[in-house]
Amino acid sequence: MLRPGESAGNARPLRLYVNIDHVATLRQARRGTHPDPVAAALLCEAAGVEGITAHLREDRRHIQDADIEALATQVRTVLNLEMAVTSEMVEIARRIRPFQVTLVPERRAEITTEGGLSLSAVSRELPGVIQALRDVGSRVSLFIDPDPAIVAASAALGVDAIELHTGQYAHHPGDPAPLASLVTSAQAGAAAGMAVHAGHGLSVENVGPVAAIPEIEELNIGHAIVGRAIFVGLPAAIAEVRAAMHAARHGSPIALPPR
Ligand code: PXP
Repeated sequence: MLRPGESAGNARPLRLYVNIDHVATLRQARRGTHPDPVAAALLCEAAGVEGITAHLREDRRHIQDADIEALATQVRTVLNLEMAVTSEMVEIARRIRPFQVTLVPERRAEITTEGGLSLSAVSRELPGVIQALRDVGSRVSLFIDPDPAIVAASAALGVDAIELHTGQYAHHPGDPAPLASLVTSAQAGAAAGMAVHAGHGLSVENVGPVAAIPEIEELNIGHAIVGRAIFVGLPAAIAEVRAAMHAARHGSPIALPPR
């Protein structure tokens, strides 16, 4: 039987990266040391995830510089550093050389990353930033809205990957349009030779249709896993999501545990 991460037919293997920012959010509520997002990352790895995602925001509202430094040396899978297109962040990334950098938009007033990167807003900086990150060996991904025109513009920049923003899909359950946009954008991204990732607002309940898109090879999931972990622990929360991903990708039914 195929296990999560193995492929069937034309589907690419599907990786799960856990976003641990939300552990840091809880710690920052008291400005202390507990719960430690680095320890959480190691626990996620022990539970079998393929990568760790962390967003060092300019306002440092959750992940701190010291977390990124510790993750860079302690993560045994791969580190996906999410960051804004700023010279400060490029300097940090070039020092720690994460496996992957995902460039994201940032607005200080937002609750979370609310939309994809506006390529036109950072068009002057982007080519140099992408080159500077690739020069130190990091692969570069752009977090974009699922729009074939933006996918094409990303491909023209020569990035390794795109991460499709699944927020519209997650926030409008039952509306077929956001899922259709994800499907066509994933197809366009893969046809242009880029790796296709997806994330934002995904959970055990809604991950299935996204995981079933064969061109998608990486999902970044944070809030739902960390929130669920309060009740069942991180390994069980991860296992639930992986089971749902696997069932959607490979067609085998799973019984979700009682919630
Ligand atoms: N991918 C990106 C680029 C993000 O900014 C976020 C939000 O932190 C996620 C994935 C994960 O979203 P969520 O925490 O809603 O699962």
